[in-house]
Amino acid sequence: MNKNYRPRYHVSVPYGWGNDSNGTIYYNNKAHLFYQHYPHAPEWGPMHWLHVATTDFIHWEQRPVALYPDQPYEVNNGCCSGSAIEEDGRLWLMYTAAQHMMQRQCLAVSDDDGNHFKKYEGNPILTAEMLSPEIYEEDFRDPRVFKKDGTYYLLAGIRYLENGERKEPSPVVNQRENTYPYPPEPSHVKEGWGNLALLKGTDLFHWEYVGHLLYPQPEFSEDFYRLNGVYECPDYFVTDTGEEVLISSPQNLPQSGDHYQNVHSTLYMLGRLNFETGQFKVRVIGEIDNGFDIYAPQTLRMPDGRIIMIAWKEMWDRNFPTAKYGWAGTYTLPRELSTEGDFLIQRPVREIEQFYTNPVKADQIEVGDSEAAVSGIAGDVISLSFELDPATSSKAGVKLFCDGTHETLIWYDRDAGKIVFDRSNSGIKFTGSEENVHVRACPIGQCEKVRMEIFLDVSSIELFINGGRYAMTGNVYPDPDKEMGIRFFAEGGRAVFRDIVKFDIDV
Ligand code: FRU
Repeated sequence: MNKNYRPRYHVSVPYGWGNDSNGTIYYNNKAHLFYQHYPHAPEWGPMHWLHVATTDFIHWEQRPVALYPDQPYEVNNGCCSGSAIEEDGRLWLMYTAAQHMMQRQCLAVSDDDGNHFKKYEGNPILTAEMLSPEIYEEDFRDPRVFKKDGTYYLLAGIRYLENGERKEPSPVVNQRENTYPYPPEPSHVKEGWGNLALLKGTDLFHWEYVGHLLYPQPEFSEDFYRLNGVYECPDYFVTDTGEEVLISSPQNLPQSGDHYQNVHSTLYMLGRLNFETGQFKVRVIGEIDNGFDIYAPQTLRMPDGRIIMIAWKEMWDRNFPTAKYGWAGTYTLPRELSTEGDFLIQRPVREIEQFYTNPVKADQIEVGDSEAAVSGIAGDVISLSFELDPATSSKAGVKLFCDGTHETLIWYDRDAGKIVFDRSNSGIKFTGSEENVHVRACPIGQCEKVRMEIFLDVSSIELFINGGRYAMTGNVYPDPDKEMGIRFFAEGGRAVFRDIVKFDIDV
């Protein structure tokens, strides 16, 4: 194991701090990822954008810092989240210049393959006051720009003031309190309900407000509409089958049973965006990932048509155990997105298969109210897949990152119809919002068989369930001096594991 927990095949910030994925784009024969960055310490600070690029989604070349907070309009919080667009061969970034009392949108452009960016002289190009009294000027951020039929559109996270009136916000009703010092709270109360804005422009510089996306509709609980927070980091794409997908990360979405268990959630909505009114008619709301560590995903479209999503693989309001090694911030394995009925399907990017080595296979093992290891199936930089037949067991699954003292459990609870991800004894303890909450559940219903694909990377677990209908992601920090074992287990009866395949991932 890497002693400092640094993953081998996932993007991680090389030094200092990294949060949200920004500016994902395929440009000049490479996929580019920018992300929120603070170079001077492994904690949030005035934001920069760091940049990496790849041809295989596994090896990423380090590019220079793309944006520094060096302008008067960026003092306080710096260059916050945003997106990228190619225009006449030039690479443009649109980002939020965030100050305590206002958030304004800015542009920067590169003429050298994204290595250096020049800020646009007319910045900031877009302020809340220029749009509508409906938008609260302190919460107007994370522009996602795209072009459709020759018109530019932009989505941004906002707080929406009903009838232009400021409201007393509801108390934070999530199950846990935010104890971690980010975001830096302004001294006064925030107002308005979280929403998303649609804007349109004839070019990248001139914008008009179209409307807000979320409005009361049947099957759409008040919690989504009266959010005490912002729908941060929106994204939007249309699949080849014409399905419209809206992604965003609502702050403080109240927990609802097994859903939205994180302090801040990451959602997809399937539906229809009305480009005349801005309203998004929601058909389905789902969680992108039912695990612990997922936020602010962004997508890009590849020339072959694939939609690839990369998210920040951490969570706000908790400790970051890697900070003691001078860095904090990891990103998910890029995931190929599609839809199937009401599901968003996530598949690990197929390029990862080129790095599979040392296969170990087992056709079938049966475990009866006990646990079993399979010779050759172990490790911490691997992929592991199998089909689980819960048979007569009440719980059955795998123990990962077993270092002799710690282990992380993933199991299917047949009666409850849930997959459970339990990191209560995984290693270094979490503090902050995760202090007393070490379990996440993913309701999948009653299944005769459950297919699991698991990716381990030193301190990272990503689980894809039933062909990518569900995903669960979480970081764990076991003893770095130990070998990492894997055990299959069943409780309350016997379970059968079939078609077990492990590969080492050698990058
Ligand atoms: C989401 C977020 C964004 C903001 C950025 C600041 O995690 O709060 O809304 O632009 O992080 O780093």
